[in-house]
Amino acid sequence: MSILVTGGTGYIGSHTCVELIKENYDVIIVDNLYNSSKEALNRINTITGVMPKFYEIDLLDKDKLNIIFEENNIEAVIHFAGYKAVGESCSIPLTYYQNNITTTLNLCEVMKSYNCKKIVFSSSATVYGDPASVPIDESFPLSTTNPYGTTKMFNERILEDLYISDNEFSVILLRYFNPIGAHNSGLIGETPNGIPNNLVPYIAQVATGKRDFLRVWGNDYNTVDGTGVRDYIHVVDLALGHIKAVKYAMNHLGVEKINLGTGNGYSVLQVKDAYAKASGKDIAFEIMDRRPGDIATCYADTKKAKELLGWQAEFDIETMCNDSWNFEVKNPDGVK
Ligand code: NAD
Ligand code: UD1
Repeated sequence: MSILVTGGTGYIGSHTCVELIKENYDVIIVDNLYNSSKEALNRINTITGVMPKFYEIDLLDKDKLNIIFEENNIEAVIHFAGYKAVGESCSIPLTYYQNNITTTLNLCEVMKSYNCKKIVFSSSATVYGDPASVPIDESFPLSTTNPYGTTKMFNERILEDLYISDNEFSVILLRYFNPIGAHNSGLIGETPNGIPNNLVPYIAQVATGKRDFLRVWGNDYNTVDGTGVRDYIHVVDLALGHIKAVKYAMNHLGVEKINLGTGNGYSVLQVKDAYAKASGKDIAFEIMDRRPGDIATCYADTKKAKELLGWQAEFDIETMCNDSWNFEVKNPDGVK
């Protein structure tokens, strides 16, 4: 069975391709390599013994996208491709809307014309905005605070409307919490461009000596130690969630919104301590003012994923930090 993975050379996409291949799916990747490298294909091959079929195509180019469906019998699509930097989306919102929305529109139009009607989409917990309470379940109201988040919310709506117009579609909207970690081979992982914005990539660079110290954005939140609490999830658990979602989509029509998180929250200082233990390095830090737009606490209600998909996260924070550090040590310049 052929699965098209858009953005499949990227961080979450490459881990998902590994798990798909392990489950004997034929994996076809499309990516324009804007935020990834062809080397990811070699790494997937090293881990699985299978080199996925690859199209270096921009999803904004609908004509070229057609070629992929013309040449392959694709049964389902996992749609990762998109831009993901929150801060950048505030400075160049039109670029974010253009890339993150138009790629989905093109993809869906081509899918429909080839009668491929199963899609798993990468959404984010960011669509919950500042939630009224935790844990957050899928019925919570949506609100966003930046253009990146709004593209996720709009994409969800576009895919819902697609189903309403054509009930033969199966749409799974996966709302990821905070993915971290790497495959335990240390061959694939996350390589942020420039100065990392996200916590674990930043801590990793403090541990390797690339950055002097961690800036902790506020310690006056109403949390266990005053620092922000998030639901960190191992990227391999996340990848396994996609396999379950594809299997579910094969047998059900409709739209499902599903949280992928662990249901546990860790504070910034708790993550820092776990990473220090994993790396054996001191992680210097300073407490700074709050980062605008941040919320105090965010973690998932994971019931729906368990009931509908039979999936739950298995890896703990220690494993997430160990695997991140292993990747960091083996790939000081990332996957290149
Ligand atoms: P990533 O940047 O590593 O992967 C995205 C891939 O999409 C990259 O390889 C990039 O080259 C490709 N791409 C972008 N625009 C494209 C286009 N127009 N045509 C073809 N390829 C294109 O990001 P990731 O962390 O793996 O995230 C994957 C998806 O999950 C994204 O949609 C992201 O918004 C979403 N998500 C990520 C996180 C996270 O923390 N990493 C959290 C929630 C949701
Ligand atoms: C951010 C995005 C969110 C996106 C998610 C995953 C914002 C406001 N939200 O979420 O849309 O889906 O990444 O990519 O950017 N922290 C520090 N110092 C740092 C970095 C982070 O103290 O150098 C703290 C933050 O204040 C927060 C926690 O660490 O409390 C996690 O931050 P981060 O990794 O950026 O993720 P989110 O803010 O949860």
